[in-house]
Amino acid sequence: MTKVGWESPSNIAIIKYWGKHGRQLPNNPSVSFTLNAAATRTFVAWSDENKYGRIDLTFTFENKENLAFAARIEKFLDNIADEYFPFLKEISLNIESSNSFPHSSGIASSASGMSALAMCLCEIEQSITGYKTAPNEFIQKASIVARLGSGSACRSVHPEMGLWGFHPDIASSSDDFAIGISHLIHPVFKTFHDDILIISANEKSVSSTAGHKLMVGNPYANARYQQANQQIISLMEALKVGDIITFGKIAESEALTLHALMMSSDPYYILMEEASLTIIRKIKNFRLDTGIPIFFTLDAGPNIHVLYPDEYAGEVRSFILSELIVHCFEGRVIYDQIGLGPKKIL
Ligand code: PMV
Repeated sequence: MTKVGWESPSNIAIIKYWGKHGRQLPNNPSVSFTLNAAATRTFVAWSDENKYGRIDLTFTFENKENLAFAARIEKFLDNIADEYFPFLKEISLNIESSNSFPHSSGIASSASGMSALAMCLCEIEQSITGYKTAPNEFIQKASIVARLGSGSACRSVHPEMGLWGFHPDIASSSDDFAIGISHLIHPVFKTFHDDILIISANEKSVSSTAGHKLMVGNPYANARYQQANQQIISLMEALKVGDIITFGKIAESEALTLHALMMSSDPYYILMEEASLTIIRKIKNFRLDTGIPIFFTLDAGPNIHVLYPDEYAGEVRSFILSELIVHCFEGRVIYDQIGLGPKKIL
């Protein structure tokens, strides 16, 4: 058997992707920070003994067999094989995956998991076909493949920040893959922090897949897509000039809009918990009292991401420990930061 390994991080959207169409295509463009600590490590070993002519896969997650994940990955590989990696039906695969963050932390692992797998598949392709693509082509294909696994995963292949989705005023933007935008951001954002306050370790009551679907019929859907298209332009300008206040205002507006869309779906649902709201209020008050530019965002769940520049790391860490950690599930916090994207580990 031959083996490859990649570690790939999760990402946190500043402009949110919510609502999709076709084959995992976004209804509006999105922008995210690539994270550092929250990552998945995936090793794929393969041999050319496949007698079945279909996907032949064994899968372990954190050294244990995981039939639910295995079924999802098998379906994904079957779905992409003919178009992207025809060799997949001629080899057998052994995939071992693990997360750097606790599995039950309520942190979405699909972005890190699918991007790590996509990087492995692109490397296996080069090894099997002997055809070496240019690094940017390699990353672009990995982004397309990651997108087909889990939409937001396509942004994780880029260092620092990724942008996914076509916008007429953003050069090279595409619905098919994410582009790297680290060359378009001010240095202050390159060391930004994103500390993740774990509020609940439970599975989400409504999956992202179901949430995206509920945007069809949401009375605010079109206004939302327009808003995202406008906010992304303001955000890009703020990122370029280092305008942290505008950045934070947009980040918080996007997080609350995402949750407002869930609350205005039919059927409605609420993923924030009481503790999420308490922390949001405390963050706002701390910002007003101290003048420290600290902001929040949320994913499709109750956890709070605390965003702030590196220069205030000491003050914010003390604030988290004295005021916020009491609201966290088992006092759990993942102290994370903007990161450099996927790493080859084998
Ligand atoms: O990639 P999905 O299908 O899990 O959707 C993710 C959606 C959000 O995390 C809520 C927003 C985003 O852009 O990452």
